[in-house]
Amino acid sequence: MIKFEFPKDFMFGTGSSCYQFEGSTYADGKTENMWDWATRMYPEKYKNTKTEPSSAFYKNFREDVREMKAQGLKTFRFSISWTRIFPEKDGEINQKGIDFYNELIDLLLENGIEPFVDIFHWDLPLYLMEIGGFSNKEIIHYFTKFAKVCFESFGDRVKLWSTMNEPSVFCHAAWMNGYWPPYEKSFKKALESAHYALICHYRAVKMYREMNLPGKIGAVIAIVPVYPLDPASNDTMGATYSMETTTLWWLDPIFLGKYPENILRDCPAYAEAMPEGYAEELASEFVPCDIIGLNYYYPGVAKYEEDSPSKSTEIENYYIVEGQKFENYPAGLYDAMIFVKKRYNNPEIYISENGLGLLDNGRKEDMINDDIRIKYIREHLRMVSRSIDAGVNIKGYYYWSNFDGFENTAGYTYRFGLNYIDFETGERTRKKSWYYYQKVINDCCVD
Ligand code: NOJ
Repeated sequence: MIKFEFPKDFMFGTGSSCYQFEGSTYADGKTENMWDWATRMYPEKYKNTKTEPSSAFYKNFREDVREMKAQGLKTFRFSISWTRIFPEKDGEINQKGIDFYNELIDLLLENGIEPFVDIFHWDLPLYLMEIGGFSNKEIIHYFTKFAKVCFESFGDRVKLWSTMNEPSVFCHAAWMNGYWPPYEKSFKKALESAHYALICHYRAVKMYREMNLPGKIGAVIAIVPVYPLDPASNDTMGATYSMETTTLWWLDPIFLGKYPENILRDCPAYAEAMPEGYAEELASEFVPCDIIGLNYYYPGVAKYEEDSPSKSTEIENYYIVEGQKFENYPAGLYDAMIFVKKRYNNPEIYISENGLGLLDNGRKEDMINDDIRIKYIREHLRMVSRSIDAGVNIKGYYYWSNFDGFENTAGYTYRFGLNYIDFETGERTRKKSWYYYQKVINDCCVD
């Protein structure tokens, strides 16, 4: 029988983020971020949303870490809540926020679980949303101030850092579609915020280096390998343009210090929307990082479209499976890994997210007996193992997510977790996939 093995020190983990799982919105001095505000103001947008995200990790983290240990997790990914640390725009540090993450980090380490920390996973403070968020250049000041406190407070023990999670979503998708708070649609702000987010990333990496801390730093980027609809046509160009306006808009600046050239040459809408002096600014601020987190969920399929601003159109739902949040195509993970290895000289990679969101049909039993998730994990882990065999430098895999939680556009419609959460009571139940993943970690292998 074919076996797909992993190196003995491979880091199997699970992921989370502060807003989606912590709850305790106003506890211990925390103030509102833009999601607290959005779900309070427009509950109907988030279908079935509760007054606060109820995976209740803030209250239950001690018990949750015990569960992680029981499962055998080697690593756990989480983010720091900005408004727990800085409740006010220009105010003092909130020590209670620092205390919470210190206790969490210490507990993880005591249990042999390596923390992977994202400084920013989408929970923009409301006071920063009100000044335009990342589309306002002032964000660089606030972001670096926040990053500095994170490094000073946790940098002695946290060895794996990401400056930010999926800027393609919180900059590009959020502004281009206008579906995120503050619900404004602006192509220009999408590109401006992308540019300032990259500067924030470089500045944080630079500061981290200067502080001589004992770990590694990078960013977490959503990777979408794009295939042409008709490979015998100029859809191959369409697929390239599409990938350059999405994934490569981030990976090229992060690794190479420049934006994808084809787009700025061939797509006037992009060139015109960029802030002045962007290319020089990017090149002068560029700092290489140590690691990259890649979130893989689905591939893209695109065709060439002369009149579209990006000269391409995405064919949606090509690989969709009913009842699943995203298209499902495990082989795309392998293709993406080989692509990154070649283009960026084999960097150190963490698959920082990969997971299956299943439509909640309201029946707990169905949600817990999640054979389909087991199949999903197995098929994707085979691709990870094959990539490692092909020489890709993948050090870890984080199943998304540890718990069922809040989704930033779909509210509580889909469940991704290995742990079932009763959102009324906060009660946790291990799903069938929880036991499967436990066995994978123990065997260091999938079949
Ligand atoms: C990627 C995001 O980082 C995460 O916040 C989200 O829950 C998952 N995608 C699933 O949609």
